Amino acid sequence: AGAIAVGGCAAEGSTGEQLRSDRPLPDPFRLPLPIPPVKRPVRRDATTDWYEIVQRRADVELLPGVSTRILGYDGVFPGPTISSRSGRRTVVRHLNHTDVPTVVHLHGGHTPAEHDGWPTDLVLPRSGGHHTHHHVGHVTTGRRDYVYPLAQPAATLWYHDHRMDFTGPQVYRGLAGFHLVRDDVEEALPLPAGDRDVPLMITDRAFDADGALKYPAAEHSAGTHGDFIEGVLGDVVLVNGAPWPELEVDAARYRFRVLNASNARRYQLTLDQGAKFVQIGSDAGLLGAPIEHPALTIAPAERFDVIVDFSTFRPGTVITMSNPPSRGGAGRIMRFRVVRRARDDTTIPTVLARVPRLTPPADAPRRRFAFSRGIVPDGLGGERKGWVINGKPFDPGRIDATPRLDDVEIWTLSTDLHHPVHVHLSPFQVLSRNGHSPGDFDAGWKDTVDLRPAETVEIAVRFTDYRGRFLLHCHNLEHEDMTMMSTFATK
Ligand code: C2O
Ligand code: CU
Repeated sequence: AGAIAVGGCAAEGSTGEQLRSDRPLPDPFRLPLPIPPVKRPVRRDATTDWYEIVQRRADVELLPGVSTRILGYDGVFPGPTISSRSGRRTVVRHLNHTDVPTVVHLHGGHTPAEHDGWPTDLVLPRSGGHHTHHHVGHVTTGRRDYVYPLAQPAATLWYHDHRMDFTGPQVYRGLAGFHLVRDDVEEALPLPAGDRDVPLMITDRAFDADGALKYPAAEHSAGTHGDFIEGVLGDVVLVNGAPWPELEVDAARYRFRVLNASNARRYQLTLDQGAKFVQIGSDAGLLGAPIEHPALTIAPAERFDVIVDFSTFRPGTVITMSNPPSRGGAGRIMRFRVVRRARDDTTIPTVLARVPRLTPPADAPRRRFAFSRGIVPDGLGGERKGWVINGKPFDPGRIDATPRLDDVEIWTLSTDLHHPVHVHLSPFQVLSRNGHSPGDFDAGWKDTVDLRPAETVEIAVRFTDYRGRFLLHCHNLEHEDMTMMSTFATK
């Protein structure tokens, strides 16, 4: 108990040490895949859709027959899915009925700074609750309206908590949901839709004997621990909140929007029976052309929009999605059971969307960001081990870079260990990996790129529209909470 992930890089590529659940794990493939509820707007007019979400504690059944206390958007995990039209303003009023401060970030959203979920722009609980010592941000009590212009192409976005120092535990307890953006380009394509367009939020969790979510105690993560905290890994894989679920499918093509919403685990997803993933979209939108992958490596916060074709399977066939078997409880993910033949008018077009190349000019501004371990202040006048960018821990009052709007810049990201690096405000394109061409999973518009140990990745990035301060950070949420964030301010 209290075992926490410590130093060294796990051979499997997921940094951290797996927590063990203190109760017998359920049998896999027994529960149906839940589909998160789709949120209805409370109001709409010519330009805007308004939503209201209540963040609250709830007791839900994640494991069969056991109640688990979560922090949920509308009290569910995953939170409700918001589905927006590109270019239509979406205003989400979040009411904080929990007893902790929260912050909402729309991951992948092209969002003005004041609505982007700055880590100290806290929404305090409506009554009582904790007081905060961060006076750097714009703090509200009880609620906040987040305004999203969504002037961006169709993509699979997600929203999650982003409270400074507490993102890891608050997302782990359930504060995460999908926010889809749709547009005409995507709708004109003959892709699977409706019931055959399925979001898959993959997370790993561990459970206490009484069914509570098991997360290392705050004093461990806050610094009395002797070594670097690598990240929290669970031994139960939840897809859309259910352990190793099963989805009954028609013998037809399906679109899966795969999101790795785990705190620290990366997966290498495979399908058996010869089924394949055909990738049609990346983090921030459709690809130019589809890419077939025998396996899908997905780091925390990345999204892969894929088509899986079940049409060649006879009813009764079972197809299992796995992760390499060495990973124990995380060695399997979910499975699909083909239950009927069905009509299918979809195809996978060879041309999907126009993805213009971001070509940096010869004199493009260059910046370097090095991700590493470091010694950081512990907030109590001492020091502790943490994670830093360019040698510095996050300080919400410091600006580390000031890119000009509309410039194409080259950023060189380098690392000691595994770090999934996420950039807010605008998507980027991967130019190179270790001096070679981009990797198999680097295609298209990205907002998160997985840096593997000792790698250097160059990206081309162009920020547009909004001036203000934004984040660049590691999306291993324990690293993020242990200060692996940096601020850039667009000018
Ligand atoms: Cu998904 Cu800054 O976060
Ligand atoms: Cu990291």
